[in-house]
Amino acid sequence: MDARVTDWNMVERQVREFVQGETRWLPALSNVSALLAETLTDVNWVGFYVADALLASGGSATELVLGPFQGKVACVRIPWGRGVCGTAAERDQTLRVDNVHNFPGHIACDSASRSEIVVPLHANGRVIGVLDVDSPCLARFCEEDQRGLEACAAVLEALW
Ligand code: SME
Repeated sequence: MDARVTDWNMVERQVREFVQGETRWLPALSNVSALLAETLTDVNWVGFYVADALLASGGSATELVLGPFQGKVACVRIPWGRGVCGTAAERDQTLRVDNVHNFPGHIACDSASRSEIVVPLHANGRVIGVLDVDSPCLARFCEEDQRGLEACAAVLEALW
């Protein structure tokens, strides 16, 4: 079996457990970062960026602000529409980037990152943040990883 194959059903079940009985997003997102960092192979950064409008409880989002994560120190603010994270938030679309050096405007927080996947999170029909996973390997993330991370994000959306 490919060492990279992730048991996404198991991961999703654990994410559901973090969400059940917990009404605050901060501890759940923190534990999901830890879980994904522990479970996924060949990954150097896992975490969340949260819309500034959510943190301020209203208005339109103009920036993503660093949330819970595992990995090296990262940039704190990402303008909406910039980098892989800001572009995924603006387009409201999962972005799977096989080679970050080919992505115009990619923001290099950790110079070791080669590929990246960013999944938007929603509340009330709006993007309220993103789940971001980086890898030091090219083309680390497959369609199954995308489906698994999107399923985890959908579970987390119950927190808002
Ligand atoms: N690479 C991201 C920035 C966040 S870090 O990877 C943690 C981007 O281009 O938006």
